[in-house]
Amino acid sequence: MRPAPLMLALVTAFTFIGAAHADKDENPTSRAPLLPRYQQECAACHVPYPPRLLPAESWQRLMQNLPHHFGTDASLDAATTRQLSDWLTAHAGHRRAPPQDRITRSSWFLHEHDEIGASTWQRAAIKSPSNCAACHTQADQGDFNERFIRIPR
Ligand code: HEC
Ligand code: HEC
Repeated sequence: MRPAPLMLALVTAFTFIGAAHADKDENPTSRAPLLPRYQQECAACHVPYPPRLLPAESWQRLMQNLPHHFGTDASLDAATTRQLSDWLTAHAGHRRAPPQDRITRSSWFLHEHDEIGASTWQRAAIKSPSNCAACHTQADQGDFNERFIRIPR
């Protein structure tokens, strides 16, 4: 029975291609492990945002502008800036750059979070949509799976 293994291989190959194709940038299953240096340098003030959640263009702009980072100074030495910038762009997503290069201004983000009302965003335990960890309890691990969402009161 020659054709059977070939069929199986083809089916496997197409299933694989199909899965990769359906793999949207925000899909929690497409996680790349976070670079330790990235966690050290970019997770002091907020969670280490997964690189796939912004396109390369946005990461490059953010990394070129660290001294003026959303009203704060997040500067790093040139070598570290370069290393992190290379890693972020290598693992970047492929959507259009959102306004202000904010994940939270991306249309997929607004869509995923459209059931959350304005008064919820303003709760003391949340304060800002950028504060992913308020609701995504595994955000510091880069895991945004719905299983780990708990909205604080
Ligand atoms: C000194 C504190 C600080 C450090 C260090 C820092 N950030 Fe930020 N970052 C901020 C603040 C403040 C905001 C705006 C948060 C808000 O609007 O609630 C922000 C927002 C962001 C956003 C946009 C979040 C959104 O709203 O979608 C990205 C992306 C980001 N930072 C990436 C980085 C990267 C990459 C690094 C490391 C090179 C870094 N940050 C280091 C303070 C920091
Ligand atoms: C106020 C709570 C809250 C905050 C803050 C928040 N989220 Fe969410 N997030 C949710 C809820 C609720 C959903 C919708 C889950 C659903 O519909 O199944 C969601 C969905 C998602 C999803 C899709 C998950 C899936 O399994 O389909 C991603 C990715 C995501 N959020 C990323 C982020 C990121 C990145 C941040 C920070 C920049 C963030 N969220 C901030 C509550 C929040």
